[in-house]
Amino acid sequence: QLYPQVTKVAKYLPDNIVTNDDLAKVMDTSDEWIASRTGIRERRVSLKETTSDLATGVAKQLIQGIDASSIDFIIVATMTADYGTPSTACLVQSNIEANNAFCLDVNAACSGFVYALSTAEKFLSSGSYNRGLVIGAETMSTMMNWEDRSTSVLFGDGAAGVLLENTSTEVRFIDELIQSDGKRSMALYAKENVDGNPFKENDDRVSSGMVMDGKKIFDFALRDVSKNMINILEKNEEFRDSLDYVLAHQANVRILEAISKKTKIPMTKFLHNVAKYGNTSAASVPLLLVEKVEDGTITLGSNQNVILTGYGAGLTWGSILIKL
Ligand code: ACO
Repeated sequence: QLYPQVTKVAKYLPDNIVTNDDLAKVMDTSDEWIASRTGIRERRVSLKETTSDLATGVAKQLIQGIDASSIDFIIVATMTADYGTPSTACLVQSNIEANNAFCLDVNAACSGFVYALSTAEKFLSSGSYNRGLVIGAETMSTMMNWEDRSTSVLFGDGAAGVLLENTSTEVRFIDELIQSDGKRSMALYAKENVDGNPFKENDDRVSSGMVMDGKKIFDFALRDVSKNMINILEKNEEFRDSLDYVLAHQANVRILEAISKKTKIPMTKFLHNVAKYGNTSAASVPLLLVEKVEDGTITLGSNQNVILTGYGAGLTWGSILIKL
């Protein structure tokens, strides 16, 4: 029997870099405020490319060298889909001509990639499918209220994903714990996409977009996300000591430090790249994974034990314990 395995990773980012100093030119903020509270130094802001464009950039790399018609499914995790319908995944399918794939989007905000990977693993484990693309892609800049400095400085655009295939002779998805709490949905919500990106020529700002209770989200991350990670490691004790890395959602370095303290997992195991990209929501976990594969910290197929953790609006959160 063969089990699901991440066999390839890829990322695709818009070229346009917006630094904290660039933001300070268009709103009342500073590099010092943003960096000291979040660790973020710059982010990408797409000028033209949509979420499906970014996701397609990832998909094209993932299928390099393989026949697109052998892809059984495409799952895109996003909360900034190009359209209400069709799904972003269907647009990607068309762009890469993966004509035999079934396609769906998963909207679980910043937990999206972890939810999507969990879903994809079930499709593969069912034995009915062999190969799928799982991509996190966001143009958060389309969802911002650019007049709200307390949220608009935090987010960025980007996409990354994995090729997941039934190729492993051993189980690699060790365990997972995926959770939601709709009662706290209003701690972080966004109305339909708005315009008002100050980096666009047509600057038509409107007061809607994302609304966030920052303190509530910080407390949620500290309490519920830490508990989630502690629970999964207590259930799989042999992995606690052999845990190599935590790839947690990249919202804020301070949140990661607080979770590290609470879970007693050393901060050295919490990888991060939020300084370069800000919070890219569903793209953040795969984007971190790709960069760590690129710089040699993580090697696919080397049996490194890693926790992938997402948390975000919904509220949604969850962890997957995986042998990469
Ligand atoms: N630049 C300058 N000042 C700002 C900015 C800004 N961009 N944004 C807010 N302020 C001001 C506020 O107006 C407020 O001023 P006031 O005290 O005069 O009213 C003050 O800064 C608030 O500052 P602090 O209390 O020091 O802010 P805090 O330490 O709470 O940090 C932050 C705010 C970073 C948002 C924090 O609450 C946080 O990290 N929350 C978690 C939220 C998060 O990361 N969400 C990500 C999305 S959700 C997700 O991915 C799960």
